[in-house]
Amino acid sequence: MRLAISKGRILEDALKVLERCDVKCNESPFSSRKLIFSTNIKHLEIIVVRASDVPLYIESGKVDMGIVGKDTLLETNKNNHFRLLDLNIAECKLIVAAKNKVKLKNNMKVATKYPNITRKFFHNKGFQCSVMKLYGSIELAAVLNMTDAIVDLVETGQTLKENGLKEIELIHKISSMLIVNKSSYKINRKKIDNFVNLMNAAR
Ligand code: PRP
Repeated sequence: MRLAISKGRILEDALKVLERCDVKCNESPFSSRKLIFSTNIKHLEIIVVRASDVPLYIESGKVDMGIVGKDTLLETNKNNHFRLLDLNIAECKLIVAAKNKVKLKNNMKVATKYPNITRKFFHNKGFQCSVMKLYGSIELAAVLNMTDAIVDLVETGQTLKENGLKEIELIHKISSMLIVNKSSYKINRKKIDNFVNLMNAAR
């Protein structure tokens, strides 16, 4: 079986939970350039990929399980997997922020990595917005007045603070989930349930 883990903060937290389940990669994903990691558990391999790619690997059926943030699941909105467990790791918030404590209004320009979530959030409030998709350092768009606001993740709040931005609205509380391909779950239900129980006890 294969497990895909999102790179970055989620990877660090996920490997700690796995270690508490006595599951270890045979080489460290932090120092190796390998793409597939064998583990001390026979038949369990780990792949480390960009967060937004995890749902695609699960959809392909080449990867059975994934550890991925709710932000990615909300944005990609795919229905090809079961969400088996909230691991309560990599906890953060998805928020709207801006230079000043402005009220949301119609036709705002918003920079984000999450165009679908952003459009839906503004739409549900009765507003249209124009989305500028960026791939990193989202805060910069508001700092440079390229946009009126940003939609981004906040963990400690340090990035907002150091760049003079303020949180305006909470969109979603975020943590990471263990998900599984629907067909894999039907075929390997017992093995996967055992794995979920282990992770549940160790989170
Ligand atoms: C994330 C997020 C914020 C920052 C928030 O960026 O997009 O910029 O972390 O964390 P904080 O509230 O603890 O300061 P990341 O570091 O993943 O890099 P990115 O800007 O390239 O997306």
